[in-house]
Amino acid sequence: MNQDIIISKNVRLYYGQKEALHGINLNFIKNKITALIGPSGCGKSTYLRCLDRMNDLIPEAKMTGTIKINNHDIYAPRVNVADLRREVGMVSQQPNPFPFSVFDNVAYGLRLEGIKNKKKLAPIVESSLKQAAIWDEVKDHLNDNALSFSGGQQQRICIARTLAIKPKIILLDEPTSALDPISSFQVENTLLSIKKDYTIIIVTHNMQQASRISDRTAFFLNGKLIEFDDTKRMFLNPKNEKTNDYLNGKFG
Ligand SMILES: Nc1ncnc2c1ncn2[C@@H]1O[C@H](COP(=O)(O)OP(=O)(O)O)[C@@H](O)[C@H]1O
Ligand SMILES: [Mg+2]
Repeated sequence: MNQDIIISKNVRLYYGQKEALHGINLNFIKNKITALIGPSGCGKSTYLRCLDRMNDLIPEAKMTGTIKINNHDIYAPRVNVADLRREVGMVSQQPNPFPFSVFDNVAYGLRLEGIKNKKKLAPIVESSLKQAAIWDEVKDHLNDNALSFSGGQQQRICIARTLAIKPKIILLDEPTSALDPISSFQVENTLLSIKKDYTIIIVTHNMQQASRISDRTAFFLNGKLIEFDDTKRMFLNPKNEKTNDYLNGKFG
């Protein structure tokens, strides 16, 4: 049985004349964590934005190739991008809660979907915060402004906000790079605890993080996918010399 929930074939992304991704073939297995690693500027964020069509918002960006999610071409003409982004949630590098209460942050997407009744919202808000491993810290402060919490707490509130709309896939672009080590570790634990229900793709600069939490790792360099393998196998025994050099800190 094919477990691949995302299949991307020959994905090229141009910013104007400049080709930033040179034909990426990369598949993602359902309910696994895949790490995207590689030096700054190699195309990790660009590739991630292909998966939820956020590059659509960059006027000079143009993609060729195909990306299928659950066997549906997400760039087909009839695709509703709002529906796609309900299925594919994104958590960004800087925690970016809205400047209102914890409750209203997590309920935000649900309200957009027309669920207005607080009695209906409350249990979903609670379960999302529990899933994001932040409930105990915020349960007595649900009406406090989300911005009053620490960076690590804000990031887990943002994860809860993403989980509330029940995406199938969660994209995270260096979600812990702005956090201290303890907060980063908490976010990592959150990801490990939810992966049985979600397919997670995480861009990370942190090789230890990739090796701690991911099942598979994709190494990008200069807009190309250099190596893609089981994380343990790649870290122990990279096949490509460039992967080996990168993992050993020879460039970064
Ligand atoms: N909006 C943009 N317009 C033009 N070039 C861009 C844009 N975003 C990224 N790039 C370029 O595309 C390449 C890949 O960038 P990016 O995907 O951000 O890499 P990474 O996330 O791996 O650091 C870089 O050369 C970067 O300068
Ligand atoms: Mg990036």
